[in-house]
Amino acid sequence: MLFTQQQHDRAAELLAQFTQRYLASLPDRPVFPDLDRPALRALKSEPMPQHGQSLESLFEELEQVIVPNSTHTAHPRFLPYVQPSPNALSPYADHVAATLNQNCNLWHLSPAANAVEQAVLRWFADLFGLPATAGGILTSGGSMANLIALTAARDHALGEKARTHGLQASRAPLVLYTSDEIHSSIDKAVSILGLGTQYLRHIPTDEHFRIRLDLLADAITADRAAGRIPFCVAASAGTVTTGAIDPIEDLARLCRQHQLWLHIDGAYGALSALSSRFQPQLSALALADSVSLDPHKFLFCAYEAGCVLVRDRRHLHHSFNAHPSYLTMSEDPDFIDFANHGPQLSRAFKALKVWWSLKHFGAAAYAGVIERMHDLALYMGQQIEARPEFELLAPVVFNCVCFRLRGEDDDANRRALKQLVDSGLAFLGPAYVKGRTGLRACFMNLRTTEADVDLILNRLA
Ligand SMILES: Cc1ncc(COP(=O)(O)O)c(C=O)c1O
Repeated sequence: MLFTQQQHDRAAELLAQFTQRYLASLPDRPVFPDLDRPALRALKSEPMPQHGQSLESLFEELEQVIVPNSTHTAHPRFLPYVQPSPNALSPYADHVAATLNQNCNLWHLSPAANAVEQAVLRWFADLFGLPATAGGILTSGGSMANLIALTAARDHALGEKARTHGLQASRAPLVLYTSDEIHSSIDKAVSILGLGTQYLRHIPTDEHFRIRLDLLADAITADRAAGRIPFCVAASAGTVTTGAIDPIEDLARLCRQHQLWLHIDGAYGALSALSSRFQPQLSALALADSVSLDPHKFLFCAYEAGCVLVRDRRHLHHSFNAHPSYLTMSEDPDFIDFANHGPQLSRAFKALKVWWSLKHFGAAAYAGVIERMHDLALYMGQQIEARPEFELLAPVVFNCVCFRLRGEDDDANRRALKQLVDSGLAFLGPAYVKGRTGLRACFMNLRTTEADVDLILNRLA
C-alpha cells in the first residue's frame, strides 16, 4: 500500500489534470446534475473488491460516475445555502495535512500543527476582541462548535458536579433562550445535551429578525418565578435565513444582569468582522462567553473547518478533559492537548488550510471578497425591487436575498424553485420568512457575477 516514486508522479499528474479539467468545465455543467440513477445504483451494489484496480481506472471512474453525478458547488450559479466555493489553495492544504497525517489530539503527536492551531485561534480571538484568557478548538463545522459551546455553558451552570452527576446535579430544569430565527443546530445541541427542547425558548424576533429583548427579559423572569434555572442565551451573528445580527451588546448586558452565559452562533456571520463594513456591528462579540465561527464559510476553506472560541479556555477543559492511562500526556506550557478541549480524540490537521488561506490571501483580500458578496446581494435586491414579477421577503443586510414571485402563492414559489434547480441553470434555496415562502440566493461563490444574477432572474420571470 505504498507507492513507488513513479506511482507518486503518476498520481500527482492525474490529480493535477483532474483538478484543472474539472474547474475549467464548471460553467458548462448543470449546477445540479441530471442524475444517472442506474450508474449510482450499480455503484451502491458493487461487491467489495478483492483485487485492486489501476490508478488510471480510479480516475476514469471519477470522471464517468462521480463528477457527472455531483452537485457542482463551485459553479457560479450555486447559491442555495451558506455554502461557499472553496478557495483554490485549501484542497492543496488538505493534501499536505493528509500526507503529514498529524493527529491533533495530543501536542506531542502534532507539535507544529498544535502551534498552527493556536495561532489561528488567537487570530480569531483577537479579531473579535476576546481577552487573553480565551481559547478554543477547530471543529468539523458550526454545528459541532455550537454543541461544544453549549456543553461548556451547561457544565458551567451545573458547577463542580457537572461531570460526575450531569443534569441530575441540577435542583431544577435549566432553561436556554434563543430566537425564532436561530439555526437548527442549537435545537439539536439542546436535545443532545439532555436539556430537553421544551426548556428551549424560541423568543420572537422584531421586524429586523433580531431577538426581542423585552420578550426575552419577560421569559427569563417567568422561568425564574416558576422555579426553573435560566442559564444561557444563544444568539446569532448572522441568522441563517436573512443574515440578521442580534443586539449583542444589549444581550451581554442582560446576560450579565441575570448571570447567564452568552453564546453567539457566528457560524454564518462572525468572520465578516474581517471587513470594516461589518466590523462595527460585531464589535460586541468581545463581550460573549463563547462564539462559533466557520472558516468553511467566509474563509472559503474546503469542508470541514469550523471553530469555537470561549472567553475562558478553562471552561472547555472542565467539560472535556480526560486522562486515560493509555494516553501519555506530558503537559507543556507551549502546547495544548486539544483532546481536552472537545469531544474528539483523533483530529485532522484542519488548521493548515485555515492558516494557509489567511497567510496566502491575507485578511485584506477576505475583506474585499466579503464586501463583493454583499454587493452582489445588493445588486440582486435592486433588480428584484425594479421588476414587477418579484418582491423581497426581507431587506438585504448581508450576502443573501430572500424573495418571491409577486402575486403567486407558496406552492407556485416552491414549484419555481424546483424547476429552476431541475433545469440545471442555477441552484437557489428555499426561504421561509415570517410565514411566507419564497426563494433564497446566498452569495458565497467566488465565481458569481452580476450576469449570473440577471440570468437567474430572467429565467424565473
Ligand atoms: C447560523 C448558522 N449556524 C450554524 C450552522 C451550521 O454550520 P455547519 O453546517 O458548519 O455545521 C450554519 C450553517 O449554515 C449557520 O448558518
